[in-house]
Amino acid sequence: MTQEEANLEVRLEEQEEFEPPESFVEQANVSDPGIYEEFEENWPECWEGAADLLSWDEPYETVLEDDDAPFYEWFTDGELNASYNCLDRHVEDGSKNRAAIKWEGEGGETRTYTYGDLLNEVEAFAATLRDLGVEEDDVVTLYMPMIPELPIAMLACARIGAPHSVVFAGFSADALATRMNSADSEHLVTCDGYYRRGDGLDHITKANEGLEGVDHEVSDVVVVDRLGDELEHSLSDGQHDYDELIADHEGASVEPVSRDAEDMLFLMYTSGTTGKPKGVKHTTGGYLSYAAWTSHAVLDVKPEDTYWCAADIGWITGHSYIVYGPLALGTTTVMYEGTPDYPDKDRLWEIVEKNRVDIFYTAPTAIRAFMKWGEQYPARHDLSSLRLLGTVGEPINPRAWKWYYKHIGGEECPIVDTWWQTETGGMMITTLPGVNTMKPGTAGPPLPGIGASVVDANGDDVGAGEAGYVTVNKPWPGMLRTLYKNDERFIEEYWEEYSDEDAVNRQLTSPHSTSSREDADEWVYFPEDGAKLDGDDYITILGRVDDVINVSGHRLGTMEIESAVVGVEGIAEAAVVGGHHDVKGEAVYVYAIPEDGYEADADLEERAAEGILESIGPIAKPEEVIFTPELPKTRSGKIMRRLLEDIASGNELGNTSTLRNPGVVDDIAEQVDN
Ligand code: PRX
Repeated sequence: MTQEEANLEVRLEEQEEFEPPESFVEQANVSDPGIYEEFEENWPECWEGAADLLSWDEPYETVLEDDDAPFYEWFTDGELNASYNCLDRHVEDGSKNRAAIKWEGEGGETRTYTYGDLLNEVEAFAATLRDLGVEEDDVVTLYMPMIPELPIAMLACARIGAPHSVVFAGFSADALATRMNSADSEHLVTCDGYYRRGDGLDHITKANEGLEGVDHEVSDVVVVDRLGDELEHSLSDGQHDYDELIADHEGASVEPVSRDAEDMLFLMYTSGTTGKPKGVKHTTGGYLSYAAWTSHAVLDVKPEDTYWCAADIGWITGHSYIVYGPLALGTTTVMYEGTPDYPDKDRLWEIVEKNRVDIFYTAPTAIRAFMKWGEQYPARHDLSSLRLLGTVGEPINPRAWKWYYKHIGGEECPIVDTWWQTETGGMMITTLPGVNTMKPGTAGPPLPGIGASVVDANGDDVGAGEAGYVTVNKPWPGMLRTLYKNDERFIEEYWEEYSDEDAVNRQLTSPHSTSSREDADEWVYFPEDGAKLDGDDYITILGRVDDVINVSGHRLGTMEIESAVVGVEGIAEAAVVGGHHDVKGEAVYVYAIPEDGYEADADLEERAAEGILESIGPIAKPEEVIFTPELPKTRSGKIMRRLLEDIASGNELGNTSTLRNPGVVDDIAEQVDN
């Protein structure tokens, strides 16, 4: 390193605030700081601008209907179709030949779908689904990896008004069955396999095993042949080959169905405190407006851009910011099938260079891995096409932020650190890249029109420099509408904590009762995240305050993992917590008590890990399984999770003398490698 470089390094390390470059501001979709006041003064009508980004079949009558809060409605009585908005209107506007999806297979194979191509294939698949008997409002499960047929299937569902429920391909057979059962889904689209680090990975066996666990009849299964000869698979009765179906329906024309703004666009299952995943319901008008508006305002997406969100469509980030937001705006969205280190650790930068990517959006866990691999990998490539960078999914530490800023953005790209959730549908707390100063490690202020604040346990706003909990005291268009077929759990999970008690009781005792109109001001949404506020009203997210952990930006319920572990023969009790991990953010630690007569040996450890793989999937793979004759408990018999987290993270342990069984702590701590 030269002296000049060393000086630069020191300067960057010490710098706490960064201004967006002039060149970025000049061209930004949003650059007027007055937008915050404008939204505040004109709320909720300010959201008409988001709806205006879409084409409506029928105009909406009311922007926000809050009579039955917190069951809010947005753009009431409006009608539209999401697939029309993502495809037809761009084709009609003369962008037929613009690339909609640029797909990169792991092995270097590529496929480009223009808006015209994509519309044709979506229509052919929509016609197929209809022929298979899929009707409006039927939930279609898509258990697929990052292949173009996944967004095609999503848009085909949207076209005929059938909500999709995408199940992340890395989830296990059991997880697939649980989700299909919960959603009463009778239709499945899946594939034979996909590539991971050069190998063809079998997926169909897992899908078939999952189908065995479905408690109702599944009328049809469509299988995409991704691996060709590499994986021989035979289709059983009721299973169809995707390519054959598309060939049979080539040239089909399927009118997009006009959906009510409040009709369900999709379901997305996510983890919560209890063992059962929650089916988050998103709607057509509000969700799509919000995905499009945030893509426009925060990601600065323009139709002529090549935009890349390196997430998986199996999670909400991919729904909102690989598929719906970018395609609604008519841009080119990049999709990559594989891992970032195959065939080498510069794979992503090679894709950026080759496609001249303008905007790149990823998770802090990936950035920490890039840092660990070293700056020589991005240095091999010309990344000068990049204009904006983004992160999502977990807190980003200032060091990783600065590394990203310097080595990927060349100190010329603003970074948006976007806080949001499956439930919020789109971004909620982040800087606007053409407006705000950036502070590494701090997401930023709430977006215009978003009533997010940091409060104490009583719900009162905390002062500058203080920590508390994130709450949202105003509805927003992208919000979840309910949990699938479970309005009660919806209230209990998200609204009970900070809303007016009487209002909550009214909704719980006589839900949707018109005789007890709710006062919308009484409702406060609780995302279950801790946060800190600074003097500029910027919010630093501290992480979950419930029993949910965040492993590599993936949200996992510790209770779900615990129930998988206690389901293993030979394990009597278990506690699962997250421990600090340098790259993953958090890692899964299992503390388990063997049943009488079972040895705490390598075999039991392996079976515990296997139990987790079977019920959830490899993303929940434990870092360590620690056997102990007892778990540390309070005098009242509650497991001291905080203490187990500290042990897993290698933190100093506080006073343990108030435990019922303090002796157990040292025994456990000795076994943990850190
Ligand atoms: O804890 C927050 C964390 O991810 C949780 C939401 O997870 P999920 O629903 O899977 O959605 C992830 C992608 C939107 C939040 O409750 N989280 C998300 N973004 C950030 C974050 N934590 C800190 N900073 C972020 N930018």
